[in-house]
Amino acid sequence: MKILVTGSSGQLGSATVKHLKAFGHHITGVDVIPAATTDDIIDIKNKSETENLCRGFDAIIHTAAVHGKHYELNYPREAFVQTNIIGTLNLLNACVKHGVNRFLYTSTTSIYGSALIDHEKAVWVDENLPEKPRDIYDITKQTTEQLCKDFFYKEGLQTSVYRVGRFLPEEDNLKINHRIYRGLDERDGAEALRLALGITFADFEIFNISSGSPFGKDDLVQLKYNPEGVILKFFPEAKDIYRRKNWFFPESIDRVYVCNKAKQILGYQPQFDFEYLLHQ
Ligand SMILES: NC(=O)c1ccc[n+]([C@@H]2O[C@H](COP(=O)([O-])OP(=O)(O)OC[C@H]3O[C@@H](n4cnc5c(N)ncnc54)[C@H](O)[C@@H]3O)[C@@H](O)[C@H]2O)c1
Repeated sequence: MKILVTGSSGQLGSATVKHLKAFGHHITGVDVIPAATTDDIIDIKNKSETENLCRGFDAIIHTAAVHGKHYELNYPREAFVQTNIIGTLNLLNACVKHGVNRFLYTSTTSIYGSALIDHEKAVWVDENLPEKPRDIYDITKQTTEQLCKDFFYKEGLQTSVYRVGRFLPEEDNLKINHRIYRGLDERDGAEALRLALGITFADFEIFNISSGSPFGKDDLVQLKYNPEGVILKFFPEAKDIYRRKNWFFPESIDRVYVCNKAKQILGYQPQFDFEYLLHQ
């Protein structure tokens, strides 16, 4: 397929470019900053440049965004609105104009916002959990998901949404602790997007994409107060490995990201999960 990847200099975008090329797809990467995975420097806020860019593709994978790290850097609300909403709208309009039928949008699990807070147990985070945005980043992601939905039903575009978990650079102990309940390796994220390219959806669909977890709903109370006990139930070998590496188990686990829908519908099977990191 001929695929345009936005945000191709970024963490998920660059992994996606490399992954799709390895599967023989013809990729054009665009970003505002240069990288080996980026072919053109284009700002998606620029309507006419974006419109010209989008000719002749079978699909667009849209990862470019102003996101959590920019929120922590106090970027103004306008920056989120302009890149995340207007930039995406420019791409969606260009898809309609040039007959690009598939549009995969990377959103975020942080869209669940204050629904992720429960003082008694960990929260089971599947796609049925209500969205309760907490900040301008979440608000723009929620609005853009709705834009994608609007284009699915009103314009007949194959838009779909991938709420990805956390893949920020982290030191090893924090990374492995996150990987068992809320983390994602960007290579697994890229694989989920690749799988989705092959599916035609009858309805607008939203998927959580994370590294998965071994936990069930029965574990939620114990996860909040004694996660080590639950982790060792599934991975008894973790005790020695953590001790050897001077790692600490999390003191509390507040949520469990569930990606069963992606497993069932896309055939997604995360490879770089907690077990992978444990035995590295
Ligand atoms: N990193 C995470 O933990 C995480 C978690 C949840 C969701 N996400 C989402 O995943 C996607 C990718 O995140 P990432 O961590 O790879 O981000 P990143 O910051 O590493 O990459 C984003 C890229 O988008 C580019 N970009 C920004 N504005 C642009 C514009 N106007 N025009 C063109 N390119 C522009 C940036 O230059 C950057 O290279 C984003 O949509 C983000 O909201 C990320």
